[in-house]
Amino acid sequence: MANKEDIFKRVISHAKEYGYIFQSSEIYDGLSAVYDYGQNGVELKNNIREYWWRAMVQLNDNIVGIDAAIFMHPTTWKASGHVDAFNDPLIDNKDSKKRYRADVLVEDHVAKIEAKIDKEVTKAAKRFGDTFDKQQFLATNTRVLGYREKADAILKRLGKSLEKEDLADVKALIEELEIACPLSGSKNWTDVKQFNLMFGTKLGSTAESAMDLYLRPETAQGIFVNFLNVQKTGRMKIPFGIAQTGKAFRNEIVARQFIFRMREFEQMEMQYFIKPGTQKEWYEAWKEKRMKWHLSLGMGEENYRFHDHEKLAHYADAAADIEFKFPFGFKELEGIHSRTDFDLANHEKYSSKKLQYFDPEENKSYVPYVLETSIGLDRMFLAVFSNALQEEELENNTTRTVLKLPAVLAPNKAAVLPLVKKDGLPEIAQKIVDDLKWHFNVAYDEKDAVGRRYRRQDAVGTPFCITVDHQTVEDDTVTIRHRDTMQQERVAISEVKGVIEKAVAMKEWLKGI
Ligand code: GAP
Repeated sequence: MANKEDIFKRVISHAKEYGYIFQSSEIYDGLSAVYDYGQNGVELKNNIREYWWRAMVQLNDNIVGIDAAIFMHPTTWKASGHVDAFNDPLIDNKDSKKRYRADVLVEDHVAKIEAKIDKEVTKAAKRFGDTFDKQQFLATNTRVLGYREKADAILKRLGKSLEKEDLADVKALIEELEIACPLSGSKNWTDVKQFNLMFGTKLGSTAESAMDLYLRPETAQGIFVNFLNVQKTGRMKIPFGIAQTGKAFRNEIVARQFIFRMREFEQMEMQYFIKPGTQKEWYEAWKEKRMKWHLSLGMGEENYRFHDHEKLAHYADAAADIEFKFPFGFKELEGIHSRTDFDLANHEKYSSKKLQYFDPEENKSYVPYVLETSIGLDRMFLAVFSNALQEEELENNTTRTVLKLPAVLAPNKAAVLPLVKKDGLPEIAQKIVDDLKWHFNVAYDEKDAVGRRYRRQDAVGTPFCITVDHQTVEDDTVTIRHRDTMQQERVAISEVKGVIEKAVAMKEWLKGI
């Protein structure tokens, strides 16, 4: 079986080979942690965004969307706390000269301990066979309990030190754990320092009048500063939400793992404005709602887990991640944050404008509390894409590469293939494309033997192949081949649209949320 690194490398090369993701400005050797989406990537990305938008905005009558500008008044970022507190703790290795996030070094160390737990589980499952009870094993096996205790203690200490800004203790922890530089193997570390992640830029035509700006590091602030505009013009009653998707920028120190951690990326965020004191119940409700959204895509319940934060961001009183099992292990995919009135209260203070809601039921005004759901679109893309990519052993001792994307998200829903390039088959196939293209994206492919064309469509993730053959000329039927099972069925041309639509319609998938 291929190891994690090989699987991940395959994901990256497949994404390039099939027009999903390219390195930015590749002809100039690229730009670190910046990527472009290709002809298939843009479709998959748009579909993920739409799946989120419909679930949030279309299906919730108390959530509306906005599209705020990337540039915002610089005071926004003072009020939001990003100027003072949007930092990562940095550490350099003196021998390799490589820079790392100190917390990530510790977390990677913990991940190694957790991998030992997984190993024990796998071993025991083999030993006990069908009678194996994983939960009981995790709760009673002394070796596992030892590892768990060790991992928890390290994370707790890290969380506390970061919260207290005790960077000396973070360095002490790295030294005590004997963490070595992954590149040089050396344990010769500098002190830990804070590094602000916002990109600066300038607005204005002359040097004297230019204003220092930041590229937004999150989309959320565009929602906060528009809170009253939307509430008043939309006559929204609490609880209500504002959703937004858009680009965000962070000067990530450890920019690696392909599109997992980028310097320019896209977020899909929703701020839910609630009555103070109700945040606990909304926090739980949104955790559940968001997990359901993920599960509706059918990517396997076992690939998700919640991770409650020990160290809270500067704005939160509770926070959890939905983690996904990426090729390199479980990592954050989405954050659910109880942001209290931190943002609105600070914008009130810095702008001297009231940002309050008059609650007719309470007959008083207050600054609402906020429950946030925040997911990276690119990270969701990586989750979907890496989960879908599979190498399958076939019965005839061959293998096929197949991208089992959820059909609702696939760039093309079908490919129409004339069996041969003559006898009127291409014309019929083209006519089918011309009918179907009004309903969903379809591809046309007449090059190479049909078997090779099936493989090509498997690899690009197209859920259906429609083959036009000589029987089609006789009776107006075609074969539909299903990507995941490779089963073929013969159907009338007039029924093709219905068969595909049933499998790809967003409405049907969204019923699962
Ligand atoms: N408004 C809250 C906020 O921005 P966050 O946990 O910093 O919270 C939310 O980011 C989500 O944005 C993350 O769960 C992740 O999916 C995505 N994200 C954050 N930084 C990213 C990066 N550098 N590259 C890609 N996605 C990123």
